[in-house]
Parts: sequence; C-alpha cells; structure tokens
Amino acid sequence: MNISLLSETAKMARRSSTEAIHGHGYLDRERGVFKVPIYQTAVFEYPDSVTGGPRLSDRGLDLKYSREENHTVRALEKILGKLERGVDCLAFGSGMAAIVATYLSKLKAGSKVLVPLECYGTTQEFAQNLSKFGVECILARSDTDEFLERLGDGISLTLVETLTNPMVRVIDVKEIAKRCAELGVPLIVDNTFSTPLLYNPLDDGAWVTVHSLTKYIAGHNDVVGGAVIMGSEEDAEVLWNWRRKLGSIMSPFDAFLTIRGVATLEARFEKQARSALEIAEFLEDHPKIEKVYYPGLSSSPYKSIADRIFKRRLYGGVLSFKVRGGQREALEVLRGTELIKPSPSLGGVESLLTYPIWTAAKNMSREQMKMLEISENLLRLSVGLEDVEDLKEDLGKALSRV
Ligand SMILES: Cc1ncc(COP(=O)(O)O)c(C=O)c1O
Repeated sequence: MNISLLSETAKMARRSSTEAIHGHGYLDRERGVFKVPIYQTAVFEYPDSVTGGPRLSDRGLDLKYSREENHTVRALEKILGKLERGVDCLAFGSGMAAIVATYLSKLKAGSKVLVPLECYGTTQEFAQNLSKFGVECILARSDTDEFLERLGDGISLTLVETLTNPMVRVIDVKEIAKRCAELGVPLIVDNTFSTPLLYNPLDDGAWVTVHSLTKYIAGHNDVVGGAVIMGSEEDAEVLWNWRRKLGSIMSPFDAFLTIRGVATLEARFEKQARSALEIAEFLEDHPKIEKVYYPGLSSSPYKSIADRIFKRRLYGGVLSFKVRGGQREALEVLRGTELIKPSPSLGGVESLLTYPIWTAAKNMSREQMKMLEISENLLRLSVGLEDVEDLKEDLGKALSRV
C-alpha cells in the first residue's frame, strides 16, 4: 500500500487547530475549490477502456467503488490521521463499526480479550459476544493497577478508554501502553472522550486509536461515525480489507459533515471543557448535591493522572454527579431541566443529561455497580456550547424543585 503522502505530511505536522482545517490537503486548482466536495457516487470510471484497469486512489489501491474508497471520506481520514499523529486512518459508519472491525482484524479462536468493566457498553457486549467464536472476554476494573495485573494473564488484545463513562475516571494509559509493549499485547485506545487535543495514544505505543466521531469530532449531534487511526501501513491494509468486507465505510455525506465539524473541534472542546469545570465547581458547592465526579476538580483523585497524561490543562466536557436522595430526586432533575435535554450521547453542541443506570450501567450487576460507585442518584452531563450561566441556571432551577 502506498500512503507515503500521508506519512510525509504527518512528519511535518502543523499544530492541531490548523490540521483540523487544512489537514485534508484538498485543492482543485482548475476550479479554484479548496473546500472538500461531497463525492456522492457509488462508482468510479475505469480510465483504460481497453484493459478495464481501475485508477489508483492516493492510498495506492484500486479506486472503483465507494464501499472501498471515496474522495470525501479520504479527505476526512487525512485530517484525523494527522490529528492523532498516525500513519493512516480509516473512517467508518459508526464508532461501533470501527471497533468491531478492529476486534475482528486481530482476534481468532482461542484469543483472550481484556476489556474494562466500566467501558462503553456495546464495546464490552461485542467482546463478550465473541465467545461464540471461541474468544474469551475478561473484564477488569478501570483501575491502572488491576489492569496491569490482568495483562499478564495471556491476553491477546486489550482496549482502554482514556476517560471512563459514567464515572469520568482517568486510567494511566501511558503505564498500560508501556506494559502492553513489554508483553507484546496490542492495545486499542478509545480516545473519544479526551479527543486528540488532550492525548495521542499512538505516541505512547498504542496499537491503534479509535473514535466515535459521533461525539466531539463531528460535534453537532447530527452525524454517526467512527474512525481507526493506526501507526503502520500493514495494519491499515489489513483493516482496510476488513472494512471492505464488512461494508462499513462512512458515507460521503457524513464524511462531509464531519470535515465541517472537526474544523471547529478546538474552539468547541476548549469552551465545553471550561464550562464543564465551572459547572462541576457550581454543583460541588450546591446543597442538593452529594458528590461530583470530574477529573478537573482539585478534589478529584484523578486530577494528578490527568495532569501527567493530558497535553493541556483541560479535562473534557463530561461530568457526573449524585443528587442528594435517591432515584426519585435524580429523575426529578433529569426531567426538570429545560435547556439541557435528557438524551444519550455526548460531545455535541447541545448539553445532554443521562441516567447511567438506564444507559451505561444497564448490563451491570448490583455488585459491579457498587464497586464502581454507580448508584440510583447518579446523573451524567455532557456540557454543550450554550452560555455556561444559562446552563447553571437551568440546573439550579431543576435542583431547587427537588
Ligand atoms: C467511548 C465510546 N466509544 C464508542 C462508542 C460507539 O460509538 P457510536 O455510537 O458512534 O457507534 C460510544 C458511543 O456512545 C462511546 O461513548
């Protein structure tokens, strides 16, 4: 596979807010167009009508069919590859499509996959579903020491999330990546919550970085997408073939919207993270609140790990909090906000509130929830781009009615 173009440009990488806008490198000189168009086509012409030979994409692969390659999707992949400092990137129709293809490209009967107990539920569920193909799934707490210990159990593949959901813990990915390298265990890092602005897992030796683009990268709650960024051309080729067979490439229109979204990633994420800290501090002082979970708070046990790992003093736009009382009080807040919508997902322009017992923790046993401190009075907030004073007022009003 010839992807030297991407690796060449990655070598002279510009700063991330510049790459987020210009990293696609698209320019149609003839028409004077530097915005990436939507190549809404399923097929591409064979240039040589005699031999019927297809033209090559800039990856050096056949360009004939949009299930395999598409110029709009490719432009997005170049941006994401640069933001995550990888050699190549593949975009998928969802974060789950990206994760499933990544698992399938590596696992075989007899493999053991280690997944955190506190991890995106469907990522974990799919790893468990692989038991029907002879793959064993082992769960460990998102606790650095426990994870490091379990890695020694003959693990074939592992996955961690940089910030966990719903308790917003920070795992020491650097330590885990180091141990994975020593043991030869490929490490998948789901960097969705922290974004490439806070952390680049490939720099620490992770095998691949995955993203649900649905969240901060597309950023507007109007696209579902995923991506895998890898550090080697060989891995990219293997995964490209899995994507081709699974038929899980992103659509050109969604790639276009994601290119539009990622251009403002830094401006959005910075504001969301600053507002999240302000709201976390506001809630921490509120008499109706029992506890706030946010790694940016000086009271958080995860702040020191975050400050060591993250490139900036920002801690993401998601926080969780416990309302004094129980389920009834938490649900009153969930139903009581006007601006903040009760809805799943995170990272978009609208602030969203979820009830983790019904979402992230729905497959957990009582013991597991207790171990992770997930209780009936817990709510998770994804902070959007609204004015932070309006968000505090909205939460304050909902809490005053409890
Ligand atoms: C951390 C994380 N990874 C992966 C996914 C799956 O992404 P998608 O919903 O785009 O398939 C999600 C979805 O919420 C997520 O939160």
